[in-house]
Amino acid sequence: MDDKYILFYDSGVGGLSTLSQTLDEVFGQKFIFFADDKNCPYGNKSKDEIYRLVKGNILHILDMFDIKIIVLACNTATACAVDKLRREINVPIVGIEPAIVPAMKKSRSSHILVLATCVTLSQEKYFKLSKSLSGKIESVKMPNLAVKIENHFIKDKRLNIKHEISQIWQILKDCPDIDSIVLGCTHYSFIKEKLSAFNIQIVDGNIGVAKRVKSLLNLSGENVLENKTQNKVKILLSSEDVYTLKRYTRLLLRISKNVIIE
Ligand code: DGL
Repeated sequence: MDDKYILFYDSGVGGLSTLSQTLDEVFGQKFIFFADDKNCPYGNKSKDEIYRLVKGNILHILDMFDIKIIVLACNTATACAVDKLRREINVPIVGIEPAIVPAMKKSRSSHILVLATCVTLSQEKYFKLSKSLSGKIESVKMPNLAVKIENHFIKDKRLNIKHEISQIWQILKDCPDIDSIVLGCTHYSFIKEKLSAFNIQIVDGNIGVAKRVKSLLNLSGENVLENKTQNKVKILLSSEDVYTLKRYTRLLLRISKNVIIE
């Protein structure tokens, strides 16, 4: 195992769903999971503010740790900051984007629904991506969903997403040929089961990220398949709150097997 870390970055718990998928794909790696929980949610902030927060936090982490890959496990941060950060930081950066390309490939009707934060769906990056595809895309901004999910896991609040579910029902009623829902925010991967009631394909970008990380490791000569030792994860929070850290740790251990918490 080399001493360099792979950094996973999100505003909150959402990125743990992305990290968990990557932990299933690689072995013997050291990870840092950083959540900017002090500033969560990102989804209703301005592009400039998100870029400033993400850059500041990442530079701080780069000062303290040797990082070999940065993963923006946050669609909102990717939409607002990845292009600039790739020009400014000399470490490979993997971003996550709403998985509309794989969803469209699998869709029979070529009509899909994307759920994401207000910021993600308002960015040029998203417009370009959606315009590059043939097929129809409905997009729905979910201003409160990420924070409801965050509060559910961290503050034990009941997860009441009736409003969001009825919004989705309405769209599916209006457009009955929609056959895929794309989860364009990593927090939403935690409600996949609830959305399975719609009985249509639910797609997120986590597997795409895991494969990209694996291929970057392979390219750098690491044999991630032969090495069968467990992955290690260090969790850092911008709040530095000890209780919150326990909740994050507990959640990661619940959803991942191939991991030791440092
Ligand atoms: N998990 C994030 C995303 O993928 C951010 C949610 C938020 O902070 O609003 O977009």
